[in-house]
Amino acid sequence: LPSHFTLPSGAQIPSVALGVWKASPGEVGPAVETALKSGYRHIDGAWIYGNEAEVGAAIKKSGIPRDELWLTSKLWNTFHAPEDIEPALDESLAHLDTEYLDLYLVHWPIAFKRGTSNELDVELTANPYPTWAKLEELVDKGKIRNIGISNFNIARIKNLTANPLKHKPAVNQVELNYWNPQPELLQWSKENGLLLEAYSPLGSSDQVKETLRVPEVLAIAKELVITPAQVLISWHVQRGTIVLPKSVTPSRVVENLKVVALPDDLFNKLEEAATSHKPKRILNPSTGWKLDFDVFDENL
Ligand code: A2P
Repeated sequence: LPSHFTLPSGAQIPSVALGVWKASPGEVGPAVETALKSGYRHIDGAWIYGNEAEVGAAIKKSGIPRDELWLTSKLWNTFHAPEDIEPALDESLAHLDTEYLDLYLVHWPIAFKRGTSNELDVELTANPYPTWAKLEELVDKGKIRNIGISNFNIARIKNLTANPLKHKPAVNQVELNYWNPQPELLQWSKENGLLLEAYSPLGSSDQVKETLRVPEVLAIAKELVITPAQVLISWHVQRGTIVLPKSVTPSRVVENLKVVALPDDLFNKLEEAATSHKPKRILNPSTGWKLDFDVFDENL
């Protein structure tokens, strides 16, 4: 399986990252330390996770040279106004104790008004281009190497890319797992040269137990003498997506980096099983944010 994927900039992004969403204070630092010791070179974080300073301290402790690491962060919804972007980025950079990010994502295709918890900014949500143009500027300034999007469906991607972009989105980070494998989005993204990154690849804390008990997953694990989590993480990479498993348990952190190519027949069996049940999305904040539309509705 590929250890890296290539982005439009030519950059090589490690195919497996440690995800740190929901990694609590006191847990996230040791998890990052374990990850870096066991060979991870890619950490997927975000400003809103509230743990970037602890991640930064753990990275520093590892002594790994900055240019051997891949660091991703994400612009929170309250900072989409062009004048708010660089200060938000600077805060992430300061917390991570670094001069630049390898990848900075627009966390959601939803803008909130500055200083509010979830008051929709209708204009910046309908037109993401001013936000994107500012991010392009920050690429040119050297503070970000690659820019991308997260949680964008096809309609919202088209709404963005209809503008005269200087730097096209390098990746789209979305929920991808056995319950919500999104084969259409994956196919479309491949056809359009957009890499996907799989968050909640094991079904997140809500669903991980069920995911690791799927009969097809268990059968493949048994046949290949690997763990169910390794079957699923390998499946994601083999589908052509970057994968971001989260764990704060040292043995699992180590386990999750060991991906192997699944023989075609077994890969196809798992793909078939994942895509033949009714899809179920695990994360959808639309009601939590009191939006009067669904974030993932293809009819903008
Ligand atoms: P923990 O962090 O306590 O180790 P996802 O990556 O889909 O968001 O899933 C994260 C959830 O899956 C967390 O609850 C995490 O638990 C658990 N998890 C991560 N890796 C493994 C693994 N190899 N085996 C079992 N559970 C895992």
